[in-house]
Amino acid sequence: MAIPRSQYLSSVWRDGIFDGKVIFCTGGGGTICSAQVRAMVHLGANACIIGRNVAKTEAMAKSIATARKGAKVIGIGEVDVRRIDTLEKAVERTVKELGGIDYVIAGAAGNFLSPISGLSANAFKTVIDIDTIGSYNTLKATLPQLLISAAKNPNTATNPSTGGRIIFISATFHYTGMPLQTHAAVAKAGVDALSASVALEYGPRGITSNVLTPGPIAGTEGMARLGGSQPEGAGNPLQRWGSVKEIADGTVYLFSDTGSYVNGEVLVVDGGGWRAPASM
Ligand code: HXC
Repeated sequence: MAIPRSQYLSSVWRDGIFDGKVIFCTGGGGTICSAQVRAMVHLGANACIIGRNVAKTEAMAKSIATARKGAKVIGIGEVDVRRIDTLEKAVERTVKELGGIDYVIAGAAGNFLSPISGLSANAFKTVIDIDTIGSYNTLKATLPQLLISAAKNPNTATNPSTGGRIIFISATFHYTGMPLQTHAAVAKAGVDALSASVALEYGPRGITSNVLTPGPIAGTEGMARLGGSQPEGAGNPLQRWGSVKEIADGTVYLFSDTGSYVNGEVLVVDGGGWRAPASM
């Protein structure tokens, strides 16, 4: 059964704005990334979502396809972002079946809570491998398609035709440092640096690269790993956890005409939480 639009996308966006476009998303079987892709599909895009679990990824692809009549959504499991060859094969299949790639979300992540004393060298490296190297591999495997899309869709002030855009999903841990999250903080600092460098190196060829950073979002695996229920005050000035819709809206903002002049930026969608004192 189709999920109602109001759960994953605001009513302000116009249907059809991504007609004929294709989005490729790693971590697309997860709660946040699937909402981002569902929103893009609702607004006209076709999609390929990538994951490590075949059944979960294929089921999510079917579910996302219900967002729009006629939508094509491929789910490719058995892809590990730590292995670029598996990503390259997925890109090849996406191009064959959907015709190209206009937008990329590098969303695959691995995380857990651990003090440094409980973190083996391999545990630390595993998170760097999934988050940082995995984001780089995603960029590297999709870059030829992003360049083709950017060339086809020139981004000018008068006609900001959209294509050739990438969003990296990050975190705010590294702005302040974070106990029990050393591994993720280091990994996501690398992701932010990767995005900024792509923005500078490939902006002249029409590609935009930005980071989207979710705060605490209700109903996600990340929050379940942190205990699952919202504490009083939610730890941020807005005093509530966010919704996947609020992350999907940020995604549509960055990928549509509205984000045409945004490049090398970090969009933090966390209710102001990372700025808030611990007492809030
Ligand atoms: C300490 C741990 C650990 C834990 C695993 N390791 N879990 N160390 N505390 N809780 C260690 C293992 O002992 C091993 O080190 C090394 O990490 C690799 O573990 P594997 O299980 O072999 O790796 P792998 O199967 O590749 O799994 C990767 C993973 C796993 C990151 C450990 O949790 C995973 O696949 N997660 C994917 C989904 C996910 O994490 N989603 C959350 C994203 S949300 P040794 O030395 O024994 O070999 C998010 C928001 C914040 O990021 C969430 C806050 C928690």
